[in-house]
Amino acid sequence: MSYKQTYQWVVDKNNENLRNAKGIKEAALLINQNEIIAFPTETVYGLGGNAKNDEAIKKIFAAKGRPSDNPLIVHVATMEQAAQLVINQPEYGTKLMEVFWPGPLTLVFNGGKDVSPYVTAGLETIALRIPDHPVALALLEEANLPVAAPSANTSGKPSPTVAKHVKDDLYGCISGIIDGGDTGVGVESTVVDCTGDYPMILRPGGITKEQLEAVVGRVDVDEALSQQNVAPKSPGMKYTHYAPNADFILVENKEVIGELIHSKQQQGFRVGVLTTEEQKDKYKADVVICCGYRTDLATVAKRLYDSLRTFNEKEVDIIYSETFPKVGVGVAIMNRLEKAAGGIIIR
Ligand code: TXA
Ligand code: MG
Repeated sequence: MSYKQTYQWVVDKNNENLRNAKGIKEAALLINQNEIIAFPTETVYGLGGNAKNDEAIKKIFAAKGRPSDNPLIVHVATMEQAAQLVINQPEYGTKLMEVFWPGPLTLVFNGGKDVSPYVTAGLETIALRIPDHPVALALLEEANLPVAAPSANTSGKPSPTVAKHVKDDLYGCISGIIDGGDTGVGVESTVVDCTGDYPMILRPGGITKEQLEAVVGRVDVDEALSQQNVAPKSPGMKYTHYAPNADFILVENKEVIGELIHSKQQQGFRVGVLTTEEQKDKYKADVVICCGYRTDLATVAKRLYDSLRTFNEKEVDIIYSETFPKVGVGVAIMNRLEKAAGGIIIR
């Protein structure tokens, strides 16, 4: 479906009376009419639709060009709403909800019978989260429905962290965009399977393994995250993602990046480098994009997707990127960078 116009509302997230803001009222009404709306969360922008309505969910898949076997996260405003969609909830799942919701943690439970089968891609499990963003919460409260929302990007591209990214990808393909400024965390929520004896991380994200362990003790990690030949338990993790148009190559040893740039330039290529504030002055690349401070990985998470998108406007042939330590949010950052590089790492 294509739209002649995509409504755009600017909403101030600090507004005390957000539920009455024009953008929230109109967007909530459109969601109730089974239209689809992009809105900010604390991680990335989401593309939301009525989780109970097949037509709304089909519109989401069509607008993104998303493979139909990749299920969506259902966003709710309260734990009670979540409980209605879940069959059996292990004790550790309840603990995780109580500590991390609202927040960048998605929990997968048995259930999902009460939402459109397109949401769960036919699985007998459902992924749920309460986002920690005043605009998202106001929209969910006002819509008064469970809202299925993948990231609001064209499938395969980096997730959107500002409204402009959404507009670049989806203008004319969706009903509206609520612009609530930049998102915050910058990488998506951590997805944790809660159907087994212990919680298992299916996708690293805004909440770290260490944070989860501090609350529930043992936390497993899907082995597909570290092994190439194992099928991931989260369908979305098998797809290529985030890749800029140019060849994107990770380089473990920062000290050799300078030589790699020089050698490609000698061959007539335009070379980009994805780097950090601490390192940026060391490179003579054609395009140098700095995504934050190596000493503060939260800044890197925040700027990562915007940096990857910016390379596409700069017409480079090849991009070399620094790597990051896989600790804390560094695990999510490296997961996304490795996907962007399609596994190409110079060690
Ligand atoms: O931060 C986020 O999670 C953002 C914001 C908008 O909330 N959403 C997001 O959605 O990243 P999406 O669709 O881009 O990623 C959802 C991930 C996919 O990897 C999908 O396969 C997985 O969650 N997922 C959804 N339902 C699942 C289920 N029942 N079992 C396993 N994985 C599931
Ligand atoms: Mg996504």
